[in-house]
Amino acid sequence: MRVAAIVVAAGRGERLGQNRPKAYIELAGRSLLARAVDALAGSRHVDAILPVLPAGLSVPEDAVSVKLLPAVVGGDERKDSVAAGLAALSSDVEWVAVHDAARPLVRPEAIDRVIEAAMKHEAALLALPIPDTLKRVEGGRVTGTAAREEYYAAQTPQVFRASLLRKAVAESRDRAGTDCAQLVEAIGVDVHVVDGDRENLKITYPEDLRLAAFFLTDRETERNEESA
Ligand code: CTP
Ligand code: MG
Repeated sequence: MRVAAIVVAAGRGERLGQNRPKAYIELAGRSLLARAVDALAGSRHVDAILPVLPAGLSVPEDAVSVKLLPAVVGGDERKDSVAAGLAALSSDVEWVAVHDAARPLVRPEAIDRVIEAAMKHEAALLALPIPDTLKRVEGGRVTGTAAREEYYAAQTPQVFRASLLRKAVAESRDRAGTDCAQLVEAIGVDVHVVDGDRENLKITYPEDLRLAAFFLTDRETERNEESA
């Protein structure tokens, strides 16, 4: 198998504040996990999709794809969930794309773009320039302003040569990790940046669900106009 996608869905969704993990929340009638799986299945490169879930839960019924592998249970931190996914992938997987279930609106074209960049550069992620001015704040007081043009907001998928990600995760013991790229950076590998997409937002706070619903309506209108 050439390319496997790990969909990490084992978080608790505390900031969203609903009574179940985010991946199981519905957005316009379909679970976030089902939407993420659809997008990954629509990529021309992704051969298999491995869901990483909270203990005791199974894949939501609406997440269906011939590319789906049996799910595995995640861990306390995101990087533990990634490690659980990696451990379950067969050793012949050459490239691994790690995607947040909390990003249901990623487009298959963006997934293809970042996979192709990784195949060329070994490691790649989707990222976007930041529109806001960035302040350093301590104790409610501004202590500095960052040079905004030096910063990008990281999205997923993030794609790596499998052996490289395995090594980065194995050596990540004392490192925090809200994304995979920082673990790969930490072992001295250059990670290539590919233009992300503002619609590929991470559902984190309740408002994000409203924004995502709006983007979906917009896509629907686009589709209807194209077919009219
Ligand atoms: N994730 C995971 N395992 C963890 C933590 C996070 O698989 N131990 C996954 C989440 O399910 C999500 C993605 O990583 O798809 C991004 O994490 P985040 O947005 O922080 O999701 P949660 O951890 O679920 O949310 P919160 O931090 O608000 O609890
Ligand atoms: Mg989290």
